Amino acid sequence: MAERSPETLISVEQVEKKFFLDTETVDALKNVNFTIPKQSFSIIYGPSGSGKSTLLNTIVGLEPPTSGHVVIEGQDLYALNADQRANFRARTLGMVYQTNYWVNSLTVLENVCMPLFLSGYSKKQAALIAMESLEMVGMTKFAKKRPTLLSGGQQQRVSMARAIVANPDLIVADEPTGNLDTKNGDMIMNLLSDLNHKLHKTIILVTHNLEYLSLSTHRVQIKDGTAAEDDGSYGLTSEQKKEKIKRLQETLLKQKNSPGKAPTIAEITSLLSGAGSPAPNNQDKTTQAGIQVNKSQASVDGVSQKPKDVA
Ligand SMILES: Nc1ncnc2c1ncn2[C@@H]1O[C@H](COP(=O)(O)OP(=O)(O)OP(=O)(O)O)[C@@H](O)[C@H]1O
Ligand SMILES: [Mg+2]
Repeated sequence: MAERSPETLISVEQVEKKFFLDTETVDALKNVNFTIPKQSFSIIYGPSGSGKSTLLNTIVGLEPPTSGHVVIEGQDLYALNADQRANFRARTLGMVYQTNYWVNSLTVLENVCMPLFLSGYSKKQAALIAMESLEMVGMTKFAKKRPTLLSGGQQQRVSMARAIVANPDLIVADEPTGNLDTKNGDMIMNLLSDLNHKLHKTIILVTHNLEYLSLSTHRVQIKDGTAAEDDGSYGLTSEQKKEKIKRLQETLLKQKNSPGKAPTIAEITSLLSGAGSPAPNNQDKTTQAGIQVNKSQASVDGVSQKPKDVA
């Protein structure tokens, strides 16, 4: 079973999820055990149909497991009833999905205000906080527009603003870049990365896109309903792990400040694994965010699918 520690934010314990259909039973999650460390950038990855969304929905209290427990900061989520869980969600986390759900009759600003209305803020207070949130994602000038009139990338930025408006410690995102082109996808990833580095938010991201694994500090690979944990730092003390994460963050900051000198995925991976400088490779490709991708590394940790954005 996964071991809880003071550094643990979420503990997933012996979770099973079965869907009972007319003619068959789907074992979507099979004895899943792992922890999500506080302030980590955790990525859940795996092939289509492997159980990623089911797992994420279970973690946030939307999908009761058939058996097992999800414990967030000591609270057994499914010991609460559905209303209490909704309340817990509203206080604890912000969510971003691949497809956005908007109240179409409301403006961008009003949609971003929604979580604050639920928390009892007045209209005026909520509008001020929501504008600040829109500013963080560079979307203030669209405040009075209807969200459905915006491009996919712009809508995803507004969705991020809505997820962070109530200042939750945990941001959960299910394939937030799934419908976006590389440029907009990288921008969303940079926003998530900033929320993790600068504001110390815990991020849980579900993605197919293995290109983004290099941004994570912790990974959960899921295959056919079974999960395996990988923090990229086996055999290290917690001090060494912290040092490694610090170096990774410095590298990412450098990358942001000088896009022309972006580290390659191989360099970031070598930082994570503690190895020396990687061998130069001519096959690298630089994405819009300045992340360099080596096509030959498209299969990371045994997952055979290719990153969506790599040509
Ligand atoms: N509500 C449901 N009823 C029945 N089966 C379901 C339900 N939700 C998911 N499943 C099944 O559970 C399994 C895992 O589905 P899930 O949506 O979690 O996969 P995923 O890894 O998120 O896939 P994708 O990458 O395509 O989004 C699949 O076999 C799916 O058909
Ligand atoms: Mg899914």
